Amino acid sequence: MEALIVEGGARLNGEVTVSGAKNAVLPILAATLLTDEECVIENVPDLRDVRTMLSLLEELGVEWSWQKNVVRIRASEIKNPVAPYDLVKTMRASVLVLGPLVAREGYAEVSMPGGCAIGERPIDLHIKGLRKLGVEVELRHGYVVAKVDRLRGGMYVFDKVTVTGTENVLMAAVLAEGETILENVAQEPEVWDLIAVLKKMGAKIEKLDGNILRVSGVDRLRGFKHKVMPDRIEAATFLIAGAMAGDEVVVRGAEPEHMVAVLSKLESCGVRIERVEGGLKVFGCDVIKAVDMETFPYPGFPTDVQAQYMAMMSIADGTSVITENIFERRFMHVAELRRMGADITVDGKRAVVRGVEKLIGAPVMASDLRASSSLVLAALVAEGTSKVSRIYHLDRGYERFDEKLRMLGAKIRRVRE
Ligand code: EPZ
Repeated sequence: MEALIVEGGARLNGEVTVSGAKNAVLPILAATLLTDEECVIENVPDLRDVRTMLSLLEELGVEWSWQKNVVRIRASEIKNPVAPYDLVKTMRASVLVLGPLVAREGYAEVSMPGGCAIGERPIDLHIKGLRKLGVEVELRHGYVVAKVDRLRGGMYVFDKVTVTGTENVLMAAVLAEGETILENVAQEPEVWDLIAVLKKMGAKIEKLDGNILRVSGVDRLRGFKHKVMPDRIEAATFLIAGAMAGDEVVVRGAEPEHMVAVLSKLESCGVRIERVEGGLKVFGCDVIKAVDMETFPYPGFPTDVQAQYMAMMSIADGTSVITENIFERRFMHVAELRRMGADITVDGKRAVVRGVEKLIGAPVMASDLRASSSLVLAALVAEGTSKVSRIYHLDRGYERFDEKLRMLGAKIRRVRE
């Protein structure tokens, strides 16, 4: 296991480039199952979750190669339409192979992902959507077994907005016979990056008003070349780092139009952010105002930035209420921030954060991907030394996070423990 040792107090300056978006590249990798032609994916971030997805695809019979940040991948034939538990349990996003596999092969066995630190995270809406396309789905010994002779278009309204649920059902609908209407779909930019790829493959997808998609099924899809969009969650994490511990930090690759809720929230906290050539520039903020925040599906404030925002509110001037509406247990970072002197009380889906003068360095433990980054942000401004352990969570979704922070001036190093 590895840990990060952080000396608080160093100021961040300079420029950092965000990597390709984890939550875009994962469904795009799954989409390669929909064709037997070669696909080229650029701007692929070197993340644990990407490596997990590639090993899962390899199990299914896919060949791939990875040079620098370009992955060439080809599902010439599916040798084994089974996504095994030992892989799926390490990454829930493995469930994204279900839709494409059943569309390609007419059969798929995908282990149920199981819960995780931030919530139970069922996939009932994925299954309901596939059933609407004629897929027979049953649960057998912890596996979802899906089979269909011929996918046929249907009409499906998602009971709740689900990002991977939208992506899974969409990746089946594109090869279904006839027309599919999907309502209450997720609007996240990463979903649109996947849609851009599916259209390059020859899929016919049309956005009707609001959150309705109309899909006209096609018989086959071809290979594609695509550059993955930048990671708006990583960008938001660096903007918050700059606000908390920076003088002036340029976040290259951040796309403001994907981050409106985050940018307006930061500005309401008194954080100054300017558009610069190719990115955003954030200025350190001596007095951060405490401002309430609620997470919502896109375009609302993203749940994946909630923990990072809470780290900033821990040292804000005043009291804020943070409401987590998406996941039922996404406050695992609270106990760890408290160890650093934060004054936070949790009541159900609400956390009340009373800003303190300063945090004190301490040994803390990462529990999930975004909680890890929130603990590092807190450690950057804490007095003294902190040790953030179990940072394999961090490496799942952030490419060289400690190295990028060190380049900005942070006193942070990775140690084996
Ligand atoms: C995606 O997860 C992201 N992962 C998550 O990012 C992100 O936090 C989440 O969307 C919300 O934005 C990827 O895209 C790979 P959901 P997903 O289905 O699709 C409930 C990160 O940090 N639900 O949108 O699994 C569910 O329990 C990760 O990068 C059902 O009830 O999330 C949750 O309460 C963490 N039934 C809500 O919907 C279903 O069938 C939203 O979940 C599906 C979901």
